[in-house]
Amino acid sequence: MGASLSAIIDSYNASAPLAEASTIPSSWYTDERLYALELQTVFTNSWHMVCRVDQVSAAGQYVTTEIAGEPIVIVRGSDNVIRGFFNVCRHHAAAVMTEPHGTAPHLRCPYHGWTYSLEGELKGTPGFAGVCGFDRAANGLVTINTALWENWVFVQIEDKASVETEAHANLEAFLGEELINKISPLGLQSLHWQERRHYAFDCNWKVFVDNYLDGGYHVPHLHKGLDSVLDYSNYMIENGERFCLQWSPIVSEGAEEQTGAVRKGEHALYYWIYPNFMINRYDGAMDTNLVIPRGADKTEVIFDFYFPDVSESARERNLASIEVGERIQDEDVAICKSVQRGLNSRAYEAGRLSVRREAGEHLFHRLLWSDLKSGLQNMISNNAGD
Ligand code: FES
Ligand SMILES: [Fe+2]
Repeated sequence: MGASLSAIIDSYNASAPLAEASTIPSSWYTDERLYALELQTVFTNSWHMVCRVDQVSAAGQYVTTEIAGEPIVIVRGSDNVIRGFFNVCRHHAAAVMTEPHGTAPHLRCPYHGWTYSLEGELKGTPGFAGVCGFDRAANGLVTINTALWENWVFVQIEDKASVETEAHANLEAFLGEELINKISPLGLQSLHWQERRHYAFDCNWKVFVDNYLDGGYHVPHLHKGLDSVLDYSNYMIENGERFCLQWSPIVSEGAEEQTGAVRKGEHALYYWIYPNFMINRYDGAMDTNLVIPRGADKTEVIFDFYFPDVSESARERNLASIEVGERIQDEDVAICKSVQRGLNSRAYEAGRLSVRREAGEHLFHRLLWSDLKSGLQNMISNNAGD
């Protein structure tokens, strides 16, 4: 643990082309300081999916969550606008909304009963008469940048303008035109959410993302069922500015029965959006993965499963599709835990990347490096200015 944070970041060569590149070093997956810097940079500068639009479809519906330790509440106002706030009471900082989701006529803090409107204005302050110079209008809930895209609500914690975040200034700029144009014809908004599943396991969040971005490299070895429906030699990888699309033709001949029954059609599309959101689209199904860091070596992944028809009559077929997704996830979780153990070993420092398969990981590592490098520099110059 001798190396400085700056030395750890600089030990990755972000300018090497893919054929010469190595992965980020193992310390990036284990060092607590690097993890803390990621939360302050990667997870505060970027836009993050926080909930589905259908979870806040009526006035008063809200969802609470947390990004990089920041409590957040998303709520649809009486004016029908979806807003995001820091879920922190302006009185003594308690969480105002404490349920994961629900419907409320107003936002009422359980501690001393302060009440905010659905639009975040402070309305009620019981027992507060005689307090001098208190500007109620200036004590509404603190807003957080919030925007919608396709089926989801996104927020961004950091709103300070800086060179690094200019491209992150609004959600469209962050996602980029190329990604927006690619996703738009996929008809995602015609799909309906059926079910959510959580997976918590012991590895750094980046191990899961790396595994997702290896261009199908692991599929023939780890996922026999999935491998039987994908065309491994025609598996393609396309990098965008802050996203990677992996796609594969689907084959029906020789398909393993359970997988073949629910993975049909022409293509499987796998979109990763930096840093931690994935959209997986098949004919008649979609699932999304949200990868949440829960510690340097702890990760939670939330899967949401969507289908064109979520009525009772389609339930059995949908559950069969979810079952296949779950089996693949179990296989991925086992290997991620194994990789994390290896990353902790003195025997491993970094590995090389397959040119044919691992361009997505290369992009991920370079984006991380760029955020961490500028984040550390900002921190150093802020401290110097104190
Ligand atoms: S902390 Fe919310 S009312 Fe006191
Ligand atoms: Fe996998």
